[in-house]
This record gives sequence, structure tokens and C-alpha cells, in this order.
Amino acid sequence: MSMSDNIAEVLYSEAELEAICARLGKQISKDYEGKNLFVVGVLKGSLVFMADLIRHITIPCEIDFLSVSSYGGGTSTSGEVQLIKDLTCPLQDKDLLVVEDILDSGVTLSFLLETLSARHPSSIRLCTLLDKPARRRVDITADYIGAEVEDKFIVGYGLDYAQKYRNLPYIGVLKPETYEK
Ligand code: IMP
Ligand code: MG
Repeated sequence: MSMSDNIAEVLYSEAELEAICARLGKQISKDYEGKNLFVVGVLKGSLVFMADLIRHITIPCEIDFLSVSSYGGGTSTSGEVQLIKDLTCPLQDKDLLVVEDILDSGVTLSFLLETLSARHPSSIRLCTLLDKPARRRVDITADYIGAEVEDKFIVGYGLDYAQKYRNLPYIGVLKPETYEK
């Protein structure tokens, strides 16, 4: 069986995702000119997006990753965020850009914003590939948004369902029967 058999609809094709990364990379390169850009990816979902995004950033930058967990095997957040893997250097004098796959309830990014701000970076901004505003539970907006999506569970391009589908090269809507079984 192929992964795409469980996809009801393609939301963003590989070409569309490439165009999103190009647009965001260009804007970020402009905004961070002369700054000390430090791109922080939230594992594991941001992996694919981050890899493509940084290749559209034309100014020097450093990268690192952290990992949080708030999801069990389901399709909505448990509300409990844990830092599973932390950054490996101090944040003083760094202009942080936190990169996420999707901003959903907002619980993850508001936790990270609070946790990382407490380490006094020079600045901190959020970049999310996708924004699902319909499900927001915390008042938070990203500074850079790839695209807005409806309230459907989506997978691919880093996003998972029960840790699978991250390697799908496009973003699609998972057939509800896949997770309602
Ligand atoms: P939040 O804390 O509810 O904003 O959740 C953000 C995290 O939930 C993301 O980093 C994703 O890992 C996960 N998530 C939210 N919506 C989806 C979805 O539609 N598909 C896959 N993962 C999702
Ligand atoms: Mg995630």
C-alpha cells in the first residue's frame, strides 16, 4: 500500500511548497540583514520545511533544533508541552527565528516563546509553514506564515499522523477513516 492511498486531497503540491519557501526566505533575508540570525527548528515536524527554507535564506545564519512533545497518537493537542531536546548554546546576542510546521492551538509556540524569551535573546520571532487559526486556544500569531489552512487534519512535508507520513513530499488531507478506525 502506498501512503498516498490514504490522502483524500492534495492541499499544497511540491511546487507550491517551494514557492512558499522562496517567498519566506526572501522576506527573512531582507528583515534580518545585519542581524545575528539563529534559526531554531522545532523537531520533528519542521525538519523538511526548515531544510527548504534555509536554502532560500541568503544571509549568514546559524541553525539548531529543539524538540517538544504534546501529542500522543491522536489528532489534537493534549495541552501539555514538554521540552524533550533543548538547544545547545546560550541565546544572548542572537536573533531567534523559531520555525514550526503548523500553528494549531498555539500551545506549543506560546510555551516556546515563553521558555526561550526567558533566556534573553536579542529578539525572537515565529515562522510557521501553516496556520490553522480556527483551532487557536492561546492568543498567538506568527510573524511569518506560509499559508493558512482550514480545520482539517493534514500530513506530509514533515507533518505526521502517529509518526507516519512525514516523508510524503507534498501536504495532503488525511482520509478521516484512516484515524477514525
Ligand atoms: P499546537 O500546540 O496545538 O499549536 O500544535 C502544534 C503541533 O501540533 C504542530 O507542531 C504539529 O506537530 C501538531 N499538529 C497540529 N495540527 C496538525 C495537523 O493537522 N497535522 C499534523 N500535525 C498537526
Ligand atoms: Mg510539530
